[in-house]
Amino acid sequence: MKKDTPIPYEAVEEQIKQLNLSSVGKASIREIKRLVDNIENATGERYVRMEMGIPGLPPSEIGMQAEIEALKKGVAAIYPDIDGIPGLKKEISRFVKLFMGIEVHSRGCLPTVGSMQGSFAAFLTTTRMQEGKDTILFIDPGFPVHKQQCKVQGTPFDSFDVYNYRGEKLREKLEQHLSKGNIAGMLYSNPNNPSWICFTETELKIIGELANKYNVVVMEDLAYFGMDFREDFSKPGEPPYQPSVANYTDNYILLISSSKVFSYAGQRIGMMVISNKLFEAKAEGLLRYYGSDKFGHAMVFGTMYALSSGTSHTPQYALEAMLKAANDGEFNFLEVVKEYGEKAKIMKRIFTENGFRIVYDKDEEKPLADGFYFTISYPGFSGEELIEALVYYGISAISLAITGSERTEGLRACVSLVSREQFPDLEYRVKKFHEHHPVK
Ligand SMILES: Cc1ncc(COP(=O)(O)O)c(C=O)c1O
Repeated sequence: MKKDTPIPYEAVEEQIKQLNLSSVGKASIREIKRLVDNIENATGERYVRMEMGIPGLPPSEIGMQAEIEALKKGVAAIYPDIDGIPGLKKEISRFVKLFMGIEVHSRGCLPTVGSMQGSFAAFLTTTRMQEGKDTILFIDPGFPVHKQQCKVQGTPFDSFDVYNYRGEKLREKLEQHLSKGNIAGMLYSNPNNPSWICFTETELKIIGELANKYNVVVMEDLAYFGMDFREDFSKPGEPPYQPSVANYTDNYILLISSSKVFSYAGQRIGMMVISNKLFEAKAEGLLRYYGSDKFGHAMVFGTMYALSSGTSHTPQYALEAMLKAANDGEFNFLEVVKEYGEKAKIMKRIFTENGFRIVYDKDEEKPLADGFYFTISYPGFSGEELIEALVYYGISAISLAITGSERTEGLRACVSLVSREQFPDLEYRVKKFHEHHPVK
């Protein structure tokens, strides 16, 4: 390691030692965050922070105002219905109709405490529908907390990295897993955290067809709804719509977060949209745990009741107001978050001009979209080595190894917290890194 690094070498070493980290490359996201906080405090140097996926924009004003009004009206004193306030349920149903082109009755449109509660509840309920069909399949790379959810609830899971199985190749790989007969549900995010791949219509069709064939519930995580900026999904009621497996199967649950699209992460409110068919579906296995064999009933009065007895009252009003404004064409929520894609384009250029490579770079033949995340590697470095080395250059990211990716040479970079004024610093630091580590 060269000693003339952009962040004083000894200062970084000292902080690593103080945190007692055996390896920076193996540290968790939160440990990296703490290390970088400590180095920033000790040196006064600002890092290019790409480790955490948190919104970098102010929360939606429409949401905040609606929430304040609801609070003043006194809703804090009242238990909300477990399946959500009627106005919100109606707007969720309108939202999926207007921005995805799909019909779901408001009955199956539920607020959740963040999209994370939605996935927790979905894993729990789907794996109890039929004895022996108790496993979740993750189409990776993915968000590590989903696997953590399975672990804490004792739900078995399986996974594979989709990198080598794009397009038609996905069919055989999925068949291999689903034909075992133990898979109750499968989950993927689209656009994908961490790789920002977006499934093509061919791939969504394959997933939908196989879900039908093997009677598996598809959990489509739309945490980055509409944020494939290669297309304009922002016009309500007009195609193109956010692509979805819902066009190919009626056995699905959509998990839609408000954290990134509305910058509303702090209020922990998301949406779970259960297809009409699944909501009404009967499954005998449910009777082992719930008072009803109907999926929708078991989800609301069994799982959601037991988990949190519904979602906080005021954020439901916020979400209702934000969705209504979007549905009525008065609030272009995607215009606001487009900034992420524009920053990603510049940041990817800075890295690739200096010896870095984009790890996940294509959706079948199409170059990847620019968005919230991108993935990088550097010749001759493993992911762990690269994280460790970049810390000395004032750059932080996380390793793809913790996301179920087989591309362990790669890192995930998140653009949200990097401000445009930092681009000259980023460029200087990346150039210095390249200079110190010439590619042979
Ligand atoms: C793929 C994915 N799913 C779910 C979530 C969590 O969403 P929420 O904040 O609504 O719980 C995130 C947040 O980073 C995410 O990246």
